[in-house]
This record gives sequence, C-alpha cells and structure tokens, in this order.
Amino acid sequence: MPVKISVGSGKGGVGKSVLSTNIAYLLGKAGLSVTLLDMDSGGADLHILMGLFRPKYTLTDFIEKRVDSLNDVAQKLEGFNKIKIITGTGDSLHTANMPSATKSKLLRHIQKIDSDVVIIDVGAGTHFNTLDFFIAADIQVCVTTGDPTAILDLYRFIKLAVIRKALSSFLAYDEVSKVIRKRDIKDIGELLVIASEYGEDRRQSIDNSIAELNPCIVFNQVDATPNAKFSRLKSLLLDYLKITNLDLLGKVPDDPELRKSVKVYQPITSLKPAAPSSLALEVICSRLLKHIDRLQS
Ligand SMILES: Nc1ncnc2c1ncn2[C@@H]1O[C@H](COP(=O)(O)OP(=O)(O)OP(=O)(O)O)[C@@H](O)[C@H]1O
Ligand SMILES: [Mg+2]
Repeated sequence: MPVKISVGSGKGGVGKSVLSTNIAYLLGKAGLSVTLLDMDSGGADLHILMGLFRPKYTLTDFIEKRVDSLNDVAQKLEGFNKIKIITGTGDSLHTANMPSATKSKLLRHIQKIDSDVVIIDVGAGTHFNTLDFFIAADIQVCVTTGDPTAILDLYRFIKLAVIRKALSSFLAYDEVSKVIRKRDIKDIGELLVIASEYGEDRRQSIDNSIAELNPCIVFNQVDATPNAKFSRLKSLLLDYLKITNLDLLGKVPDDPELRKSVKVYQPITSLKPAAPSSLALEVICSRLLKHIDRLQS
C-alpha cells in the first residue's frame, strides 16, 4: 500500500500545487516511486506545473467508469521517470460534486495505486470532499503563508478536518453523529463532552481517531523564521483541537526563481536545485522522508 500524503490549506493560492510537484520530484530523486493525484476539483493544474498539457486521461475517466483502476489513468511524465500523475478534472459538475459512494470508491482505489507514495493535492477550502480526502491520508501537509489571515484560515481548515475525522469514527446513524452534525462545534472539548454523554467508549473513539492524524505545517513565501507563529498555532491546535503531534516541516522563502519555474512548467527543484526555494524544499522533503520511513516500518 502506498504512503498517502495530502496537501491542503484554508486559503487559496498559498503554494499547495507548487509544493506538491516539488515534493514529488524530490521524493522521486530520493528513489521512491510517486503518483501525483490532483483532487482540486475547482482548479486542477498539477499537470501544467509538470509540463503536461494534453493529458490522455483524467480522473473523470475513472469516475465515469471508462476504466476500472486508478492505475489506468496514471500517466508517466516525460523527463521524470519516477513520477506519474493522475490529472484532475474540474470541468464536470458531476465530478466536482461527487456523491459519497463515488468518494468511498475513490478512497478505496487510492490504496491500490501502484507506487511508494501518493501525493494528493486536495485544493483549498472546507468542502466535505476536500476535508475527506485530506484526512484520509497518512500524513497531512498544511500550507500557509505568514499572513495572519492565511494562518486563521488554516486553523479553521484544520478544525473542520479534525471534526470530520472525529465524526468518521461513528456510523452516520449513531446518536453522537446525529447530534454533532447539527451543532456548530467550537472546539474538540465540546465534541468530547457530547460524546461522553453517550459513553466513555464514544469519547475514546474520538481520541483515537484524532491520534491517527499526522499534521505537518509548511510556511510558504516567508522571509523570517516562522518559529513564533508556529508555536502559537501549535498551542492553539493543542488547546482547542487536542492535536499533540503537529510537526513543522519547514519554510520556503519568497523566491522569484520559483515564480519563473512555474512559467516554464517545471518544478524549481529540478530546474534550479541551488535556488533558495529549492534548498528549503530539500529540507522539507528530508523531514517528510523521516515520516515516510516511520510509516513504512
Ligand atoms: N515560495 C514562493 N516564491 C515565489 N512565488 C511563489 C512561491 N510559492 C508560490 N508562489 C507563487 O504563487 C503561485 C500560486 O501557487 P500554487 O498554485 O502552488 O498555489 P495553490 O495553493 O495551489 O493555489 P490554489 O488554491 O489556487 O490551488 C505560483 O504560481 C507562484 O507564482
Ligand atoms: Mg493548486
């Protein structure tokens, strides 16, 4: 089974796709086979960032049952022999608003993707589908800039992801699930109080499901060391969401070379390995490799 890494954010345009493609390249360089999976239904563009303009297949071919397996829609990328891509859709209302049976089928089939690692760019925002693909991964990479609004949006995104994860531990018709779905939950403490009213085992399943998450933060386009911002976010997530294992993967500086690499459809780490952003992405990738090793052993 592949190790699944999801990449999400609260705000759009903070660097998820650039990060996904560069991590794919660096993990490939480290010898792992990688599949990029574009789940951004509103703005699927990973293929463009990798220089693929006319994909032969897209995720729609799988969703609309023209093929049986996600491996059938994973395409090789010229010049990147360790990376394949499953191109997103976005031009079909049917796939953008995927029903839950389709989502469950997709989640099952992601496990069968034939590579060491699958990187899932889930897109921005808090649509249920976005949250569900985000929490289904083994490692959740959360991207933000240093702007207070981006950090606040990221906090909200993680909060909803955690609530969605907690809910996933109950069947849809479970009493706790029915109550929680109707309420505007402020923090996990509130969720735990509701669950405890229905028995200690319910509370325990919430704790267990949150412990399954492996959230990691990347600060993008920041110049100063974001340690103070990270510490504040970490303590918010601990106090309000009971997340005990938040990891800082690293920070990427604002780099004009990176912007240029986007314009020539290549990951900066492949185009200019010595660029400031490439060096930062190398650090991020080496931390990620530690998580991958731990999950594979
Ligand atoms: N570290 C950086 N330095 C300079 N420019 C950057 C950096 N990171 C991202 N950018 C710029 O921001 C643009 C948007 O990045 P990207 O497409 O990865 O964001 P996104 O989070 O995937 O957006 P969306 O939410 O729309 O999918 C890039 O095309 C690039 O020009
Ligand atoms: Mg994107």
